[in-house]
Amino acid sequence: MDAMIVRGGRVLNGEVEVSGAKNAALPLIFSTLLASGEHVFFNTPRLNDIQSACQLLNLFGCETKHDGHVLRIKVKPLKSLEAHYDVVRKMRASILCLGPLIARYGKAHVSLPGGCAIGTRPIDLHLEGIKALGAEVAMENGYVVASAKKLTGANVLFETTTVGGTENIMMAATLADGITRIENAAKEPEIVDLANYLNKMGAEISGAGTSIITIKGVSSLKAAEHEIIPDRIEAGTLLIAGAITGGTVTVKKSRLDHMPAVIEKMCEAGFSIHAERDAITIEKAATWRGVDITTAPHPAFPTDLQAQFMALMTQAEGTSVITETIFENRFMHVQELVRLGANITPKTRVAVVRGSRGGLEGAPVMATDLRASACLVLAGLAAKGETKVNRIYHLDRGYEHLETKLQRLGADIQRTGNGS
Ligand code: EPZ
Repeated sequence: MDAMIVRGGRVLNGEVEVSGAKNAALPLIFSTLLASGEHVFFNTPRLNDIQSACQLLNLFGCETKHDGHVLRIKVKPLKSLEAHYDVVRKMRASILCLGPLIARYGKAHVSLPGGCAIGTRPIDLHLEGIKALGAEVAMENGYVVASAKKLTGANVLFETTTVGGTENIMMAATLADGITRIENAAKEPEIVDLANYLNKMGAEISGAGTSIITIKGVSSLKAAEHEIIPDRIEAGTLLIAGAITGGTVTVKKSRLDHMPAVIEKMCEAGFSIHAERDAITIEKAATWRGVDITTAPHPAFPTDLQAQFMALMTQAEGTSVITETIFENRFMHVQELVRLGANITPKTRVAVVRGSRGGLEGAPVMATDLRASACLVLAGLAAKGETKVNRIYHLDRGYEHLETKLQRLGADIQRTGNGS
């Protein structure tokens, strides 16, 4: 299996361009099931998860073509309405086909995704939402079997804010009879991007980006074109890559308004950050302070940057208390950082990081999930000597050529084929 070899001590400087957002592209890909014809997405990142989503659409009977960063999806009459376990277990976001299939075809046979490294990842809120719109939902041999003659608009109140649940219900409601009101909706930029595309297709959605989204059902939708928003999590990762090495880095095609909490916390730690049009620059800093963060739904600090920020805090002066409120097991990177010499005390949902500049020594470490992989690469940039990040395939799910982007900024990083 592939590994990443990082030789620390280099200062990263320069400009780097962020790719399209994985977590916007995935729901957009499944939204195409709502309308026949050719859908075109620009700025589509080349990632394993995108490939998996397209494979599932191919199994349904759609044609997909990903040239460069342009993804064309031709939706024709489907030959299957089943999302098989073998695909869904590899890419949990496949559950986002449920809402579109039910809304447009009245049937769906979707494997339960199962858990993953960071948590049990239930889908009970998705299913309650689909039922509220009038679907019959049963569980058969690990599959969700859902059917509905025609969905009917309803009020859906999520007791927990859920990104995927909001996306599934928003998509399903576009073709329901009447009005659907989603309360306690997720407010992530990716929700807004999906609503914008659905409205381009002819949907009538208002309130995306707030906690109340209203969808007025329409009789049909049509294929359209769309430019996917930049990936705020990759942007944050690249800014931290500059920061942790004491360099000045400009991340192009990134949006300050997509990452308010991250920018605020980096400034609180002592970094100077400024933005021109669609680029964010972090200025080099000789030292920075430990700051506390608590992950929570947007616009609070994103859980997908918790691990990367923790790497930065291992090099801070002082203590940082990191609280993870979204997933129950998202500290798998802690023990690996400790192997590199970090001083971190993990509790159930809280990790106390006692930072010290230059305290990391390179060592072999194990990537356990997508964002933990990025965290360990960042720590390797700051560590003395060589860090070998094993099982780096996790990284390829969500970062497009991260090592090339870091090399361009001056990092000494190579991918090797003999990771364990
Ligand atoms: C999306 O996952 C993202 N994935 C995740 O990014 C991200 O970490 C997460 O939102 C939170 O921001 C995609 O967009 C493809 P949730 P999602 O439903 O939709 C609980 C990455 O690294 N919950 O908002 O699955 C759940 O257990 C990935 O790019 C239920 O209890 O997350 C969690 O505690 C990782 N029942 C909380 O809600 C449900 O039916 C938030 O989960 C659904 C969720």
